[in-house]
Amino acid sequence: MFWLAIALLCLVPAVQGATSDFAWCYHNTSCNDATWATNAPSYCNGSRQSPINIDSTKATLDSNLKTFTFTKFDSKTALVKMENTGNTSKTYLWIKLSSDVGSGVTVSGGGLSEAYTVLQFHLHWGNMASTPGSEHTVDGTRYPMELHIVSIKSSYNQNVTAALKDSEGVAAFGFLIDVDTSTTGQPASWKTLTTLLSQITQKGQAIDPLSVSVSVDDLVPANNLKSFYRYLGSLTTPNCEEAVVWTVFKQPVKVSKDLIDLFSTTVRVGDASSPYMMNTYRNIQPALTVTHNSSPKTSLSFGLLLLALALWMS
Ligand SMILES: *[C@@H]1O[C@H](CO)[C@@H](O)[C@H](O)[C@H]1NC(C)=O
Ligand SMILES: *[C@@H]1O[C@H](CO)[C@@H](O)[C@H](O)[C@H]1NC(C)=O
Ligand SMILES: *[C@@H]1O[C@H](CO)[C@@H](O)[C@H](O)[C@H]1NC(C)=O
Ligand SMILES: *[C@@H]1O[C@H](CO)[C@@H](O)[C@H](O)[C@H]1NC(C)=O
Ligand SMILES: [Zn+2]
Repeated sequence: MFWLAIALLCLVPAVQGATSDFAWCYHNTSCNDATWATNAPSYCNGSRQSPINIDSTKATLDSNLKTFTFTKFDSKTALVKMENTGNTSKTYLWIKLSSDVGSGVTVSGGGLSEAYTVLQFHLHWGNMASTPGSEHTVDGTRYPMELHIVSIKSSYNQNVTAALKDSEGVAAFGFLIDVDTSTTGQPASWKTLTTLLSQITQKGQAIDPLSVSVSVDDLVPANNLKSFYRYLGSLTTPNCEEAVVWTVFKQPVKVSKDLIDLFSTTVRVGDASSPYMMNTYRNIQPALTVTHNSSPKTSLSFGLLLLALALWMS
């Protein structure tokens, strides 16, 4: 339950808001993820649950995974609300983003069957940068944080309930966050975002309206969006609906340690005397089939091969 959510399009209900009524949590044994399969067997006890460990050596190449088209990811007016909802049964901390009314933030391409409209993004983290808290792991490595952008098929016209009934109704994009040890207070977009956390340290506090000149592109640079893993999984919070086309980008986003540390040392689950939100991730679920598009490394080797051929033929 301890996580940070950022919604795009303020009129749209969050995917999480449409889910469970039971008071799930992360680190109280009475409600943590070990209890979800019992308390929400549909669908937390299902067979295509997220997150998973991605074994890069087992991921197969899928030539249908073409380039993504991200629309309005460069909008500097997308962030409209940031709220700490505390350890309610649904979400803990909201930061809503809205694009200009009527012009959706969307994603298409990348092997998706149609355009998806982005609803929100949120983060998962551990305890300081030193205790990692990403949801997906890659070859067994857990990263300090993970950012999730959540979208639903545009054809559902913002009806989350309908999207959750479709096995590919939701497209979620995972960005692994790694520590940039060479600097502090960077990237500037993340500095802006994390500085705001001090205004919503307690449950129920919100910054609304929020005006910051930060775009999604600023937070997850385009360079990070080229190579990715793909699999069919679920929401990582109850009711864990198996409605998600997952994209996990290979290239981690680098954020300086001081900023990563702020998440687990600023926002609390309740009032000023309550614990800080930390270790806000679900444990790894059984492995699923993962594919990937070509990586920069692969294209580089291919380019070199072509170059060698060209030289040999000349
Ligand atoms: C754990 O959850 C139970 C049931 O919601 C609650 O009564 C208890 O106070 C919680 N414990 C902690 C340490 O938050
Ligand atoms: C979860 O699913 C497994 C396999 O279908 C089943 O054996 C088990 O009883 C289920 N557990 C719960 C809590 O529903
Ligand atoms: C949303 O979708 C659900 C499930 O398909 C449907 O029952 C409901 O009427 C829809 N809501 C609206 C507002 O269209
Ligand atoms: C939420 O946090 C408050 C304050 O620490 C605590 O009293 C309550 O038991 C928590 N609820 C859950 C469901 O963990
Ligand atoms: Zn998430």
